[in-house]
Amino acid sequence: MAARIVVLANQKGGVGKTTTAINLAASLAMMEKMVLLIDFDPQGHSTTGLGFPKPDQRAGSFALMKGAPAKALILTTEVPMLQMIPAGKDLAQLEFELFELPELQVLRKALEVVQDDYDFILIDPPPSLGMITLNALTAADEVIVPMPCEFFALDGLAELIETIRRVQAGPNPRLQMGGILLTMAEERTNLGAAVAQEVRQAFPGKVFQTFIPRNIRLAEAPSHGKPVAFYDLRSKGAQAYLNLAREWLGQQVVALSEER
Ligand SMILES: Nc1ncnc2c1ncn2[C@@H]1O[C@H](COP(=O)(O)OP(=O)(O)OP(=O)(O)O)[C@@H](O)[C@H]1O
Ligand SMILES: [Mg+2]
Repeated sequence: MAARIVVLANQKGGVGKTTTAINLAASLAMMEKMVLLIDFDPQGHSTTGLGFPKPDQRAGSFALMKGAPAKALILTTEVPMLQMIPAGKDLAQLEFELFELPELQVLRKALEVVQDDYDFILIDPPPSLGMITLNALTAADEVIVPMPCEFFALDGLAELIETIRRVQAGPNPRLQMGGILLTMAEERTNLGAAVAQEVRQAFPGKVFQTFIPRNIRLAEAPSHGKPVAFYDLRSKGAQAYLNLAREWLGQQVVALSEER
């Protein structure tokens, strides 16, 4: 069966997209799912976070978008069932090229040839709603929105949801809202709990039960080039992402049985 393609989207910076991309991908792989992580951000944080140097124009997602075969760009990682396509700053150039020649289906077509090799393909886009993110949303079956438990959390969400609707109404009717993931939760503060409650009320049934606590190990792991579970398995951060993977896989099973 073809891989389910999932994009971690939020146009706000620093909300936990990359942390979630790396650690959800690694957690799924640890549960024996075959996973491809695509770094689709010129910042290349998923790439360096898994211990790889940023690639030049001939390798990585820039080359993928320029027609290089996906299979030639895939790197194997320390996690047995996790592979990745890296990204570097060249990818930023693509934002202009795609803008001049609006083309939303490039990524989707580029992934077709590898879709049967994986259970899941996760995409880590940049903090913007530009052409790179639109290509990711057009390629995806599902979008997960990481959202920090902060006072302004819901700010900007309307814009993101409007963008998702437009993609659904236009280039990608298959796109589903997978859920909102509360990240960077301060367990000891009332504010964190209040924000979590506000988000759950605003989006009933759309917020993952699992939340990701603020945990120093999650911030440290990328500097060691490892997913947190390979850096400190017993940390709260590692356990939270394993729980998220379990919860999310449970949803997939329900969704599949509904399809039949
Ligand atoms: N739960 C957490 N606990 C502690 N630190 C975290 C947590 N989640 C993310 N961080 C740290 O916060 C910073 C921003 O996280 P991350 O890079 O995942 O966000 P992002 O949404 O991908 O950012 P960008 O929009 O720039 O791509 C990083 O330094 C990361 O290590
Ligand atoms: Mg990021």
